Amino acid sequence: MKLGIYEENKIYNEDSYLAIKKIPDKVIDLIIIDPPYLIDKHGSGGAFGSDMQKYHNEVRTMSEGIKINVLEEMVRVMKKVNIYIWCNKNQIYEYLKFFKEKKCNFDLITWHKSNPIPTCNNKYLSDTEYVCFFREKGVKVSGEFQTKRKFYVTPLNTKDKNKYKHPTIKPEEIIKNFIINSSEENDLVADFFLGSGTVCLASKKLNRKYIGFEIEPTYFLIAKKRIEEYTKEEKEYEIKEIFEDKIGT
Ligand SMILES: C[S@@+](CC[C@H](N)C(=O)[O-])C[C@H]1O[C@@H](n2cnc3c(N)ncnc32)[C@H](O)[C@@H]1O
Repeated sequence: MKLGIYEENKIYNEDSYLAIKKIPDKVIDLIIIDPPYLIDKHGSGGAFGSDMQKYHNEVRTMSEGIKINVLEEMVRVMKKVNIYIWCNKNQIYEYLKFFKEKKCNFDLITWHKSNPIPTCNNKYLSDTEYVCFFREKGVKVSGEFQTKRKFYVTPLNTKDKNKYKHPTIKPEEIIKNFIINSSEENDLVADFFLGSGTVCLASKKLNRKYIGFEIEPTYFLIAKKRIEEYTKEEKEYEIKEIFEDKIGT
């Protein structure tokens, strides 16, 4: 299906703030986004180590968080409001205010890191990330007992971070649960802040259609390769299955 000038099952190296304006009304079933967080301008939170300092500097230069008029655009392109937004605690209030005015239901889902980076100043550990889930009346939440929990406790996903070279990659298993709970096969899932492409990859694995945008060429290429590599593996697997069926093993 054509989505204005875009196509489904593709990702684009574009600024989503501009791209979204070219997407027609009411074409997307589910949005899952992880926009750059607003970072405390006064410092990194006292994290130990130069790697962490580098990470905070990188994130701080990405952007200053999502803009309200882009949220309006997201509402416009969804068939019905059905959106998960990763955020930090300072952003929750703003999102709540925006979507409460749209009379949406709200759930707060949390990811707790069992091995957080130690901090050395006057504050609690940075061991929790938040996901705000908003849905319009009548939007189904399906899934099952195991996929519908509202909190996750896992170690930091250092393996994925190293493999896909993105500092804020999110756990694929959590995102898969959001997709299972809030969409059906062949539905269209969109991510406007792709990073390493976790949302589009998970959508593909779960037989959903996807579309995604990433502004940084390096991350875009990482995401593209990650999604394409999965396609190759999947095709090889399907060919093997057909072959085994034919020869009756
Ligand atoms: C927090 S990261 C997303 C990480 C992703 N969830 C993952 O699992 O890899 C946010 C991404 O949004 C991208 N970004 C920031 N502003 C953007 C914009 N205006 N349009 C598209 N991408 C943008 C950044 O380059 C960054 O890679």
